[in-house]
Amino acid sequence: MNIDKGNLLYRGKAKDVYQTSNPNQVLVKFRDDITAGDGEKKEVMGLKGYYNSIISAKFFQLLEEVGVKTQYIDLPEPGYMLCHKLDMIPLEVITRNLAAGSLLRRFPFQDGQTFHPPIIQMDYKNDEYHDPMLNDDIILALGLATADDLEEIRQITLKINRTLKTFLEDRGLIFPDFKIEYGRDVDGNIVLGDEISPDTCRFWDRETCDVLDKDLFRKGESGVIEAYQKVANIILDDEDKKKWKLDF
Ligand SMILES: Nc1ncnc2c1ncn2[C@@H]1O[C@H](COP(=O)(O)OP(=O)(O)OP(=O)(O)O)[C@@H](O)[C@H]1O
Ligand SMILES: [Mg+2]
Repeated sequence: MNIDKGNLLYRGKAKDVYQTSNPNQVLVKFRDDITAGDGEKKEVMGLKGYYNSIISAKFFQLLEEVGVKTQYIDLPEPGYMLCHKLDMIPLEVITRNLAAGSLLRRFPFQDGQTFHPPIIQMDYKNDEYHDPMLNDDIILALGLATADDLEEIRQITLKINRTLKTFLEDRGLIFPDFKIEYGRDVDGNIVLGDEISPDTCRFWDRETCDVLDKDLFRKGESGVIEAYQKVANIILDDEDKKKWKLDF
């Protein structure tokens, strides 16, 4: 890799963020650590970082093509993503097309109930407070974003949902929900950061109803890495597969 990995800026639960010689760029290492339940359940899963990085890169490129500003610059090698350095906004922006997961535990929705329009939920990304759900007034009072920022985040998020949902449905995948994070670049633009992967999305096979995401790990089921590999196989085109030497 012809990118000089500088000092470690931040080590999260699943990724490391390194400085580079360019102060406006960071190198994100996607690690093989997999966690669930506020980090209580923890394991190392070989090749997870590899798959998550190529899956995220594919989604970021797809979103750039429809005019969404993303952190993505390059994938110098699988596992490492060169990104625009962002000042992260501590919001977990969750979009729900279908009722699943924590929404069913917290509210009397029907399992599999569909949402038109989709639900956008914002949680406070703060482990100490266990990522509580926010509303606009709390976000404004905490000074996390302005009303204009929130409206912009909402519009970009709906566009991301439309783009990814159509792309995935065309390939036989149901897209129940996903979580994204935004940050501000040097010019103050709101930019999509972090990752879009089976760690942060739900993907279900429409034909077999197989779960192809981190829910397998949450439930202690087998075939986690095979599911991530399957998502990569479904979304990458032949050129990508050749480039990343994927031999399916
Ligand atoms: N482009 C970017 N520039 C700077 N930081 C970023 C960028 N994209 C993501 N991040 C931050 O880098 C970290 C990624 O690591 P990871 O996902 O492992 O962390 P996490 O465990 O989810 O979060 P945390 O430890 O912050 O609670 C997150 O804090 C994320 O907000
Ligand atoms: Mg994270």
